[in-house]
Amino acid sequence: MKPHLISGIQPTGKLHIGNYLGSLKNFVALQNSGKYECYFFVADLHSLTEDFDPQEKPGQILNVALDYLSAGISPKKSVIFQQSSVPAHSELAVILNNFTPLGELRRMTQFKDKSESQSENVNAGLFDYPVLMAADILLYDAAFVPVGDDQVQHLELARTLARRFNARFGKTFIEPKPLLTSASRIMSLDDPLKKMSKSRPQGCLFLDDTPEEIRNKLKRAVTDSGREVKYDEQSKPAISNLLQIYAGIINSTVQEAESAFKNATYVDFKNAVAEAVIKELTPFQKAKKALKPADVKKMLSAGDKKAASAAEKKIAEVQKRVGLI
Ligand code: TYM
Repeated sequence: MKPHLISGIQPTGKLHIGNYLGSLKNFVALQNSGKYECYFFVADLHSLTEDFDPQEKPGQILNVALDYLSAGISPKKSVIFQQSSVPAHSELAVILNNFTPLGELRRMTQFKDKSESQSENVNAGLFDYPVLMAADILLYDAAFVPVGDDQVQHLELARTLARRFNARFGKTFIEPKPLLTSASRIMSLDDPLKKMSKSRPQGCLFLDDTPEEIRNKLKRAVTDSGREVKYDEQSKPAISNLLQIYAGIINSTVQEAESAFKNATYVDFKNAVAEAVIKELTPFQKAKKALKPADVKKMLSAGDKKAASAAEKKIAEVQKRVGLI
């Protein structure tokens, strides 16, 4: 039997190149490796922890599903589904809550960051977010979870919860390991000291951006002092970030990318990054335009059924372990 692999993306707006290089592009490679039984879902329940407009939510959910398919995730090779359509995610989160000390959640960097960035809406869902995420993973016996660097701490909690539950109730869960790409932390184009994030759109390159927008955004992207295209996160954070983007896009290492631009100016280098991104995204955008929303919705509900049948078995096992049935 192949090891299980799972990951999800929140439907909170357009995906950016950080989401792509840290997760989505890797999902496709991992799926196509044939080494895993893959589950990819739209993390819609997680997305309710931020301010949202219910009118926009269905479109945002559909958009993540479209992005999955356009990038090359295939329902023939992976189970693609919507988190909230499988109630076992919420059920397991409620059970796991009882084995999660508050102190462990208080330590979460993402909770601390979001408590500042959305200080008017520091809700219990935001605090409990990592427990729901642990439930997402543990429910499918996933051994591997491809994510960006910002989710590693949450994965650590999922491992801790699995271990704790197993120790008390007998072996029930697998301890999941994160799978990181070499571009697992892409920074903002306008400030290389801040992570590229949907909450700061001015620093994002979006997967739906037109070639014109991509060229302009890269032209305007901040650079560092000096002239050399060199990878050095300390003294050249902006150029290093662009090298990460370039290397991630063309599937090379930053060292190879650095040597390819040894004698290039910043302007030439930024142009080359823009053209590489455009070349990568053109087929993605074409595929996205060709997809019909009604077909994608059908595909999602078929995935929901497959995911639910795996999840229902696991939640029944958990309920039995804790004495509910
Ligand atoms: P989300 O929707 O915020 O982001 C989706 C994925 O993109 C990665 N990512 C980045 N990678 C590199 N550079 C960046 N600047 C960057 N920004 C985001 C994220 O690490 C993530 O892998 N909690 C998850 C969704 C989730 C999940 C799960 C993931 C819910 N349940 C279970 C795995 C397993 C999240 O907020 O992703």
